[in-house]
Amino acid sequence: MNDISIAPSPKPSPKPTLRTPTTLDPAISLSGVNLSLGYAAARVHILKDIELNIGRGEAIGLVGPSGSGKTTLLMVLAGLERADTGSITVAGSDLRRLDEDALARFRGRNVGIVFQSFHLIPTMTALENVAVPLELAGAADAAARAQAELAKVGLAERLHHYPAQLSGGEQQRVALARALAPNPAILVADEPTGNLDETTGRSVIKLLFAGHVERGTTLILVTHDTALAKRCGRIVRLRSGRIEGEERGTA
Ligand SMILES: Nc1ncnc2c1ncn2[C@@H]1O[C@H](COP(=O)(O)OP(=O)(O)O)[C@@H](O)[C@H]1O
Ligand SMILES: [Mg+2]
Repeated sequence: MNDISIAPSPKPSPKPTLRTPTTLDPAISLSGVNLSLGYAAARVHILKDIELNIGRGEAIGLVGPSGSGKTTLLMVLAGLERADTGSITVAGSDLRRLDEDALARFRGRNVGIVFQSFHLIPTMTALENVAVPLELAGAADAAARAQAELAKVGLAERLHHYPAQLSGGEQQRVALARALAPNPAILVADEPTGNLDETTGRSVIKLLFAGHVERGTTLILVTHDTALAKRCGRIVRLRSGRIEGEERGTA
Protein backbone atom coordinates (compact mmCIF):
# COMPACT_ATOMS: atom_id res chain seq x y z
CA MET A 1 0.00 0.00 0.00
CA ASN A 2 1.29 3.43 -0.90
CA ASP A 3 -1.46 5.36 0.85
CA ILE A 4 -0.12 8.36 2.72
CA SER A 5 -2.60 10.03 5.03
CA ILE A 6 -2.18 13.77 5.24
CA ALA A 7 -3.94 14.37 8.55
CA PRO A 8 -2.04 12.78 11.44
CA SER A 9 -4.09 10.11 13.14
CA PRO A 10 -4.64 10.57 16.88
CA LYS A 11 -2.95 7.27 17.56
CA PRO A 12 -1.22 4.82 15.31
CA SER A 13 -3.77 2.44 13.86
CA PRO A 14 -3.05 -1.17 14.74
CA LYS A 15 -1.46 -3.25 12.04
CA PRO A 16 -4.17 -5.24 10.31
CA THR A 17 -4.14 -8.86 11.36
CA LEU A 18 -2.99 -10.91 8.44
CA ARG A 19 -5.77 -12.69 6.54
CA THR A 20 -8.65 -11.49 8.72
CA PRO A 21 -11.85 -12.24 6.80
CA THR A 22 -13.61 -9.04 5.80
CA THR A 23 -15.73 -8.35 2.78
CA LEU A 24 -14.58 -4.71 2.88
CA ASP A 25 -11.19 -5.80 1.69
CA PRO A 26 -11.67 -8.07 -1.29
CA ALA A 27 -9.04 -10.69 -1.86
CA ILE A 28 -10.16 -10.98 -5.44
CA SER A 29 -11.93 -8.49 -7.65
CA LEU A 30 -12.75 -9.18 -11.29
CA SER A 31 -14.63 -6.75 -13.47
CA GLY A 32 -15.52 -6.90 -17.17
CA VAL A 33 -13.33 -9.95 -17.70
CA ASN A 34 -13.48 -11.61 -21.10
CA LEU A 35 -11.20 -14.29 -22.44
CA SER A 36 -11.02 -16.16 -25.72
CA LEU A 37 -8.60 -18.98 -26.42
CA GLY A 38 -7.66 -21.00 -29.50
CA TYR A 39 -7.10 -19.90 -33.07
CA ALA A 40 -9.23 -19.27 -36.15
CA ALA A 41 -12.22 -21.60 -36.33
CA ALA A 42 -11.25 -23.17 -33.01
CA ARG A 43 -11.33 -19.86 -31.18
CA VAL A 44 -13.69 -20.02 -28.21
CA HIS A 45 -15.04 -17.11 -26.20
CA ILE A 46 -14.65 -18.77 -22.82
CA LEU A 47 -15.18 -16.13 -20.13
CA LYS A 48 -17.86 -13.52 -20.71
CA ASP A 49 -18.25 -10.26 -18.78
CA ILE A 50 -17.22 -11.74 -15.45
CA GLU A 51 -17.93 -9.60 -12.39
CA LEU A 52 -16.82 -11.21 -9.17
CA ASN A 53 -15.72 -9.97 -5.76
CA ILE A 54 -14.43 -12.36 -3.16
CA GLY A 55 -13.69 -11.17 0.36
CA ARG A 56 -10.59 -12.09 2.30
CA GLY A 57 -11.06 -15.39 4.07
CA GLU A 58 -14.20 -16.31 2.14
CA ALA A 59 -14.79 -19.82 0.81
CA ILE A 60 -16.38 -19.91 -2.63
CA GLY A 61 -17.74 -23.04 -4.28
CA LEU A 62 -17.44 -22.59 -8.04
CA VAL A 63 -19.86 -24.87 -9.87
CA GLY A 64 -21.20 -25.31 -13.40
CA PRO A 65 -21.40 -27.84 -16.19
CA SER A 66 -18.29 -29.27 -17.77
CA GLY A 67 -16.91 -26.74 -20.26
CA SER A 68 -18.55 -23.75 -18.54
CA GLY A 69 -15.19 -22.08 -17.87
CA LYS A 70 -14.47 -22.99 -14.24
CA THR A 71 -10.84 -24.01 -14.78
CA THR A 72 -10.22 -21.04 -17.04
CA LEU A 73 -11.60 -18.67 -14.42
CA LEU A 74 -9.30 -20.22 -11.79
CA MET A 75 -6.33 -19.82 -14.12
CA VAL A 76 -7.16 -16.15 -14.64
CA LEU A 77 -7.40 -15.34 -10.96
CA ALA A 78 -4.29 -17.39 -10.21
CA GLY A 79 -2.36 -15.33 -12.76
CA LEU A 80 -1.71 -18.34 -15.00
CA GLU A 81 -3.84 -17.08 -17.87
CA ARG A 82 -4.25 -13.51 -19.05
CA ALA A 83 -7.69 -12.06 -19.79
CA ASP A 84 -8.38 -10.11 -23.01
CA THR A 85 -10.34 -7.37 -21.24
CA GLY A 86 -11.29 -6.26 -17.77
CA SER A 87 -9.57 -5.68 -14.48
CA ILE A 88 -8.26 -8.36 -12.15
CA THR A 89 -7.06 -7.46 -8.69
CA VAL A 90 -5.87 -10.28 -6.48
CA ALA A 91 -4.37 -9.81 -3.02
CA GLY A 92 -3.74 -6.14 -3.80
CA SER A 93 -2.02 -6.73 -7.15
CA ASP A 94 -3.40 -5.51 -10.46
CA LEU A 95 -2.54 -8.58 -12.52
CA ARG A 96 -2.77 -6.77 -15.89
CA ARG A 97 0.20 -4.64 -14.91
CA LEU A 98 2.54 -7.49 -14.02
CA ASP A 99 4.99 -8.93 -16.53
CA GLU A 100 5.70 -12.67 -16.58
CA ASP A 101 8.42 -12.51 -13.90
CA ALA A 102 6.29 -10.35 -11.63
CA LEU A 103 3.35 -12.71 -12.17
CA ALA A 104 5.49 -15.67 -11.15
CA ARG A 105 6.56 -13.84 -7.99
CA PHE A 106 2.94 -12.88 -7.34
CA ARG A 107 1.86 -16.53 -7.60
CA GLY A 108 4.68 -17.73 -5.35
CA ARG A 109 3.70 -15.30 -2.63
CA ASN A 110 -0.06 -15.30 -2.91
CA VAL A 111 -1.56 -18.31 -4.60
CA GLY A 112 -1.65 -22.00 -3.70
CA ILE A 113 -3.07 -24.34 -6.32
CA VAL A 114 -4.39 -27.87 -6.00
CA PHE A 115 -5.18 -29.69 -9.25
CA GLN A 116 -7.38 -32.70 -9.86
CA SER A 117 -4.38 -34.72 -11.02
CA PHE A 118 -2.00 -33.70 -8.20
CA HIS A 119 0.85 -32.38 -10.44
CA LEU A 120 3.66 -33.42 -8.11
CA ILE A 121 7.21 -33.50 -9.43
CA PRO A 122 7.82 -37.25 -9.95
CA THR A 123 11.58 -37.12 -9.39
CA MET A 124 11.26 -35.44 -6.00
CA THR A 125 10.24 -36.91 -2.65
CA ALA A 126 7.16 -35.69 -0.80
CA LEU A 127 9.40 -33.53 1.38
CA GLU A 128 11.19 -32.00 -1.62
CA ASN A 129 7.90 -31.32 -3.42
CA VAL A 130 6.65 -29.32 -0.44
CA ALA A 131 10.01 -27.63 0.23
CA VAL A 132 10.48 -26.29 -3.33
CA PRO A 133 7.94 -23.43 -3.19
CA LEU A 134 9.24 -22.49 0.26
CA GLU A 135 12.80 -22.34 -1.05
CA LEU A 136 11.65 -20.25 -4.00
CA ALA A 137 9.99 -17.90 -1.53
CA GLY A 138 13.34 -17.58 0.26
CA ALA A 139 12.45 -19.48 3.43
CA ALA A 140 15.61 -20.38 5.36
CA ASP A 141 13.96 -23.32 7.10
CA ALA A 142 12.22 -24.81 4.06
CA ALA A 143 12.90 -28.46 4.91
CA ALA A 144 11.72 -28.14 8.52
CA ARG A 145 8.59 -26.26 7.47
CA ALA A 146 7.87 -28.76 4.72
CA GLN A 147 8.17 -31.55 7.26
CA ALA A 148 5.74 -29.79 9.61
CA GLU A 149 3.25 -29.23 6.76
CA LEU A 150 3.40 -32.89 5.79
CA ALA A 151 2.83 -33.89 9.41
CA LYS A 152 -0.29 -31.68 9.44
CA VAL A 153 -1.78 -33.68 6.57
CA GLY A 154 -0.89 -36.97 8.26
CA LEU A 155 2.16 -37.81 6.17
CA ALA A 156 4.94 -37.60 8.76
CA GLU A 157 5.82 -41.20 7.86
CA ARG A 158 5.96 -40.58 4.11
CA LEU A 159 8.51 -37.75 3.86
CA HIS A 160 10.98 -39.62 1.67
CA HIS A 161 8.51 -41.39 -0.60
CA TYR A 162 8.29 -40.46 -4.26
CA PRO A 163 4.86 -39.67 -5.76
CA ALA A 164 4.75 -43.07 -7.53
CA GLN A 165 5.14 -44.75 -4.13
CA LEU A 166 2.12 -42.91 -2.71
CA SER A 167 -1.61 -43.56 -3.11
CA GLY A 168 -3.78 -40.98 -4.88
CA GLY A 169 -5.08 -39.66 -1.57
CA GLU A 170 -1.56 -39.36 -0.20
CA GLN A 171 -0.37 -37.57 -3.34
CA GLN A 172 -3.23 -35.10 -3.05
CA ARG A 173 -2.34 -34.50 0.60
CA VAL A 174 1.26 -33.74 -0.47
CA ALA A 175 -0.13 -31.36 -3.10
CA LEU A 176 -2.28 -29.67 -0.45
CA ALA A 177 0.68 -29.35 1.94
CA ARG A 178 2.71 -27.86 -0.93
CA ALA A 179 -0.04 -25.36 -1.77
CA LEU A 180 -0.54 -24.26 1.84
CA ALA A 181 3.08 -24.27 3.01
CA PRO A 182 3.91 -20.69 1.92
CA ASN A 183 0.72 -19.47 3.67
CA PRO A 184 -0.81 -18.09 0.47
CA ALA A 185 -3.57 -15.50 0.66
CA ILE A 186 -5.56 -17.56 -1.82
CA LEU A 187 -6.00 -21.27 -2.30
CA VAL A 188 -7.59 -22.46 -5.52
CA ALA A 189 -8.60 -26.09 -5.87
CA ASP A 190 -9.83 -27.49 -9.19
CA GLU A 191 -11.93 -30.59 -8.54
CA PRO A 192 -9.37 -31.76 -5.98
CA THR A 193 -11.27 -34.98 -5.26
CA GLY A 194 -12.07 -35.77 -8.90
CA ASN A 195 -9.50 -38.59 -9.06
CA LEU A 196 -10.14 -39.98 -5.58
CA ASP A 197 -12.64 -42.44 -4.15
CA GLU A 198 -15.29 -41.04 -1.85
CA THR A 199 -13.69 -41.85 1.49
CA THR A 200 -10.25 -40.61 0.43
CA GLY A 201 -11.84 -37.51 -1.10
CA ARG A 202 -13.57 -36.74 2.19
CA SER A 203 -10.31 -36.82 4.11
CA VAL A 204 -8.67 -34.47 1.58
CA ILE A 205 -11.64 -32.07 1.79
CA LYS A 206 -11.48 -32.10 5.57
CA LEU A 207 -7.82 -31.05 5.39
CA LEU A 208 -8.58 -28.45 2.71
CA PHE A 209 -11.23 -26.76 4.86
CA ALA A 210 -9.02 -27.06 7.95
CA GLY A 211 -6.27 -25.20 6.07
CA HIS A 212 -8.76 -22.53 4.98
CA VAL A 213 -10.18 -22.01 8.47
CA GLU A 214 -6.94 -22.19 10.47
CA ARG A 215 -5.03 -19.84 8.20
CA GLY A 216 -7.89 -17.63 7.04
CA THR A 217 -6.93 -18.48 3.46
CA THR A 218 -9.42 -17.37 0.84
CA LEU A 219 -10.62 -20.57 -0.81
CA ILE A 220 -12.02 -21.06 -4.30
CA LEU A 221 -13.12 -24.62 -4.73
CA VAL A 222 -14.30 -25.99 -8.07
CA THR A 223 -16.44 -29.05 -7.61
CA HIS A 224 -19.23 -31.07 -9.23
CA ASP A 225 -20.40 -32.12 -5.78
CA THR A 226 -23.29 -29.87 -4.73
CA ALA A 227 -23.14 -30.99 -1.10
CA LEU A 228 -19.47 -30.08 -1.01
CA ALA A 229 -20.05 -26.71 -2.69
CA LYS A 230 -22.65 -25.92 -0.02
CA ARG A 231 -19.97 -26.22 2.65
CA CYS A 232 -18.54 -23.00 1.23
CA GLY A 233 -19.98 -19.70 2.39
CA ARG A 234 -21.03 -18.82 -1.14
CA ILE A 235 -21.71 -20.76 -4.31
CA VAL A 236 -21.05 -19.15 -7.69
CA ARG A 237 -22.58 -20.80 -10.76
CA LEU A 238 -20.98 -20.54 -14.17
CA ARG A 239 -22.78 -21.42 -17.38
CA SER A 240 -21.30 -21.01 -20.87
CA GLY A 241 -18.65 -18.68 -19.48
CA ARG A 242 -21.03 -16.37 -17.64
CA ILE A 243 -21.82 -16.08 -13.98
CA GLU A 244 -25.35 -17.37 -13.94
CA GLY A 245 -26.08 -16.83 -10.29
CA GLU A 246 -24.99 -17.05 -6.70
CA GLU A 247 -26.39 -18.56 -3.54
CA ARG A 248 -25.39 -18.85 0.08
CA GLY A 249 -23.81 -22.04 1.27
CA THR A 250 -24.20 -23.43 4.75
CA ALA A 251 -20.83 -22.30 6.10
N1 LIG B 1 -6.58 -23.49 -24.69
C1 LIG B 1 -7.83 -23.56 -25.14
N2 LIG B 1 -8.14 -23.31 -26.43
C2 LIG B 1 -9.39 -23.35 -26.89
N3 LIG B 1 -10.46 -23.64 -26.13
C3 LIG B 1 -10.24 -23.92 -24.83
C4 LIG B 1 -8.92 -23.89 -24.27
N4 LIG B 1 -9.03 -24.20 -22.94
C5 LIG B 1 -10.33 -24.42 -22.71
N5 LIG B 1 -11.07 -24.26 -23.84
C6 LIG B 1 -12.53 -24.38 -23.94
O1 LIG B 1 -13.11 -23.48 -23.05
C7 LIG B 1 -14.27 -24.00 -22.44
C8 LIG B 1 -14.15 -23.93 -20.93
O2 LIG B 1 -13.14 -24.82 -20.50
P1 LIG B 1 -12.81 -25.02 -18.96
O3 LIG B 1 -12.48 -23.72 -18.35
O4 LIG B 1 -11.80 -26.10 -18.88
O5 LIG B 1 -14.23 -25.53 -18.39
P2 LIG B 1 -14.59 -26.35 -17.07
O6 LIG B 1 -13.41 -26.32 -16.16
O7 LIG B 1 -15.79 -25.65 -16.53
O8 LIG B 1 -14.92 -27.73 -17.51
C9 LIG B 1 -14.42 -25.40 -23.01
O9 LIG B 1 -15.35 -25.34 -24.05
C10 LIG B 1 -13.04 -25.73 -23.52
O10 LIG B 1 -13.12 -26.63 -24.59
MG1 LIG C 1 -12.27 -27.82 -15.37
